[in-house]
Amino acid sequence: MKKVNLAVVGATGMVGRTFLKVLKERNFPIDNLYLMASKRSAGKTMEYDGKEYVVEELTEHSFDKPIDIALFSAGGSTSAKFAPIAAEHGVIVVDNSAQWRQDPKVPLVVPECNPEDISWNSGIIANPNCSTIQAVAVLKPLDDKYKIKRVVYSTYQAVSGAGVAGWNDLENGLKGEAPKKFPHPIAGNCLPHIDIFMDNGYTKEEMKMIWETRKILHHPELKVTATTVRVPVFNSHSESVNVEFENPVDIDEVKKILSEAPGVVVVDDPANDKYPLAIDATGTDQVYVGRIRRDESVENGINLWVVADNIRKGAATNAVQIALMLAEAMN
Ligand code: A2P
Repeated sequence: MKKVNLAVVGATGMVGRTFLKVLKERNFPIDNLYLMASKRSAGKTMEYDGKEYVVEELTEHSFDKPIDIALFSAGGSTSAKFAPIAAEHGVIVVDNSAQWRQDPKVPLVVPECNPEDISWNSGIIANPNCSTIQAVAVLKPLDDKYKIKRVVYSTYQAVSGAGVAGWNDLENGLKGEAPKKFPHPIAGNCLPHIDIFMDNGYTKEEMKMIWETRKILHHPELKVTATTVRVPVFNSHSESVNVEFENPVDIDEVKKILSEAPGVVVVDDPANDKYPLAIDATGTDQVYVGRIRRDESVENGINLWVVADNIRKGAATNAVQIALMLAEAMN
């Protein structure tokens, strides 16, 4: 594969550092690598593949040099300003923020679900929300087979999703310190509040799951509702996913479809206390599904328990998978 010039924007952050890990693990074909972050980090060095790289400050001129692909994870306002500048310079941006996800000109991609959408990008491709990625990886093959009618999400989200500050709030909270990132203590607590509250009473995290599920599954009218909750878990998100279908479902067939789905691993042996767990998912790239059972309150419904590493598959790994597909297409 032809080597590409790659920039990582937000390289010093939690997702940024994981980009570098996953790029190395996947032997990403890199010619020149540029690490960018805020002014605070300019001049710091970071290691990639045994070599030291100096972090540069992200500015309007960062993309004057030849760069093919840029992975962004530096927050929405940074993406709002700098992703279009990069795209104007011919860079293809894979953006991990929520900034561009609902833009009709921007594909929102989970490679296991809608890889075909990569082709109509005009310089920016959005990486979905972490909670959405793991859910749709499981929903897509079931939608293809039974046609989804309605989805009810309830999430149990790790503090790593709130970056270094979120992680610190749990670590320090366990020692009795007051929270700095979250509005309440997270140690020994569950916060039904992720991102800001919207006028309809939902949080933005809940609306992201609703909007993004519809966009990725190409079902603009799909009935989806969500309650998203921050829990005192360091890493990996867990989700209860209740699904109702148009067509009759067979539970053994559901298990077979999911066991054959790309990137999905079925862990479902309740007799031996086996079901997906956050501590098992951490450090891996798969989406785990278990507790697969009929929803006995409706005609064609099922309940699922879905777990994945939110920093890897929910962010860095998904973006690197997209970038690899872009790099292949550049050959
Ligand atoms: P820095 O480390 O210099 O602040 P996290 O969400 O894990 O805290 O990471 C956020 C990432 O986004 C960091 O790499 C951070 O860089 C980067 N970042 C934040 N604001 C900016 C900005 N205005 N320009 C470039 N990078 C930014």
